[in-house]
Amino acid sequence: MSNAHNPWNGAARRIHMQEVGTRDGLQVEQAFVPTEQKIALVDLLSGAGMAKIEVTAFVSPQAIPALRDAEVVMREIERRPGVVYTALVPNARGAERAIEAKTDELNLVMSASESHNLSNLRMTRSQSFLALSDVNALARQARTAVNVSLSCCFGCPMEGDVPVSTVLGWCDRFIDELGASGVTLCDTTGMAYPGQVAALVAAFRERWPSRELTLHFHNTRGLGLANVLAAIDAGADRFDASLGGIGGCPYAPGATGNVCTEEIVHALELMAFDTGVELALLLQAARRLPALIGHDIPSQIVKAGRRLDLHPLPENFDAIRERALARAA
Ligand code: COA
Ligand code: ZN
Repeated sequence: MSNAHNPWNGAARRIHMQEVGTRDGLQVEQAFVPTEQKIALVDLLSGAGMAKIEVTAFVSPQAIPALRDAEVVMREIERRPGVVYTALVPNARGAERAIEAKTDELNLVMSASESHNLSNLRMTRSQSFLALSDVNALARQARTAVNVSLSCCFGCPMEGDVPVSTVLGWCDRFIDELGASGVTLCDTTGMAYPGQVAALVAAFRERWPSRELTLHFHNTRGLGLANVLAAIDAGADRFDASLGGIGGCPYAPGATGNVCTEEIVHALELMAFDTGVELALLLQAARRLPALIGHDIPSQIVKAGRRLDLHPLPENFDAIRERALARAA
């Protein structure tokens, strides 16, 4: 891959990395990560060069107690110029809270699958769309950007495949009717595979060549990185990922976290893409996670180190070499 499909004559192609661990990751953790630790984590992530950070969710604190400190976190993080601080917002109440806390972008969610939307949000997709239209109006008044995350774009655990025409139809309503500045195609339960990803990204890009498009993959079936690479080949340049690869519902068997930020950055760096992320700083942040959430993290890079993090020679290396040379003589 690397430079073969690089359209700019060898200049590294920019890939925007968006951290969602502080929302998609922490929302399912049993442990309540102390507010000041959340703030420190977001500041480390912006310092490492993430393009966008989904800082928290302005949802019902009864529904997601892990993120009940959304206001304080959003208000007290350091705002680095150029970094977009976004937050998940499910309804008008959430939008008011997020706008009040000076969130840069509201991330609205609904599912491309009727069964999943009903199961998760207790509304039909049409009802969700109407409700999100109101949220969108609030955001417009406040001049706050809106991104829409569409769940289950690559398959629904209850309905199976979701037709491309259905996914694009909802994109169309959000982009062309409501004027959303960006759309995220989410593989909520890890059903996406590379050929399918390439086809959907290409179809989206054909219709909206320059609209901000994010891909959100979960590594549930081990296809996360393969899907990211397929999406890049098809024209995508923005990815959600979670530090340490955390996330995944503790009650859903087999559920796993998002693709792991440091694994994706490590791979893309080797392939000469420009992620703008300082991997060493990202790893420092990732190494904090086990103590914060009280368990090990999936990250392979935290476990194994970077490709060229070399190990010392064995202590008796000189003796080994001398014996080997003596045998050869
Ligand atoms: N911020 C703060 N409180 C909220 C809220 C928000 N955005 N949305 C709802 N609430 C409160 C209501 O005021 C109500 O509080 P009360 O019981 O003290 O009166 C309580 O939450 C329940 O409200 P209810 O009317 O039963 O539900 P709802 O339809 O208003 O809210 C959801 C439904 C989906 C918005 C809510 O359950 C939620 O935030 N869930 C989390 C969704 C999520 O983050 N999922 C994972 C990511 S997709
Ligand atoms: Zn997700």
